Amino acid sequence: MKKQIAPSILSADFSRLGEEIAAVEKAGADLIHVDIMDGHFVPNLTMGPPLVKCLRKITKLPLDCHLMIENPGQFIGPFKDAGADWISVHVEACDLATLLTAIKKLGCKAGAVINPPTPLEKLLPFCELADFILVMTVNPGFGGQSVVDGTLEKIAALKKYLASKNLNVPIEVDGGVKAENIARFAKAGADIFVSGSGLFHTQDYAKTLSQMKGAI
Ligand code: DX5
Ligand code: ZN
Repeated sequence: MKKQIAPSILSADFSRLGEEIAAVEKAGADLIHVDIMDGHFVPNLTMGPPLVKCLRKITKLPLDCHLMIENPGQFIGPFKDAGADWISVHVEACDLATLLTAIKKLGCKAGAVINPPTPLEKLLPFCELADFILVMTVNPGFGGQSVVDGTLEKIAALKKYLASKNLNVPIEVDGGVKAENIARFAKAGADIFVSGSGLFHTQDYAKTLSQMKGAI
């Protein structure tokens, strides 16, 4: 499975968002990870479909919209219409069987997300329906946090489960990923690596991305 890096624009300089996205695109990013927060499901507020619509105009990269919101079913249509390519929803926020099916019906890649405290068993029944699985390695809401203990083991257990079922579903990892530790996530079994502060808070995006790619 091709390894991919998905810069999370949550840690970009919002006053220069267009330039920031152009810079990571030029530096070799594979996707743009967009963190959607509603102040209810997580204690922070970020962006909505109008912003995704603007992003769609300025980048050719797939837009990976991570919905950290209550009632995500209400918003998958608006995000698709705004230009989302990938849409992921949390097992803690919805009925995954219904939502993953609905996202795929819209023509987007459907992702199932799990938070650090949620047991993997809650997610396993839905793996077959997902185009990708996003394992949170921090509690969602903010960039720049440290990796929660036990989450790398969770990735490894998920990888093993998927192999045992012959399921070729990529694992995306989100939270605390940096050039210095990305190899640990890759070794645990991740295929797609979200990085916010680990990329946008470095000086040279091309250098950081090439270090990341060299380590996975
Ligand atoms: C956290 C978000 C992440 C966040 C990651 O709720 O889902 O995508 O931007 O930030 P870093 O890479 O700084 O941990
Ligand atoms: Zn995210």
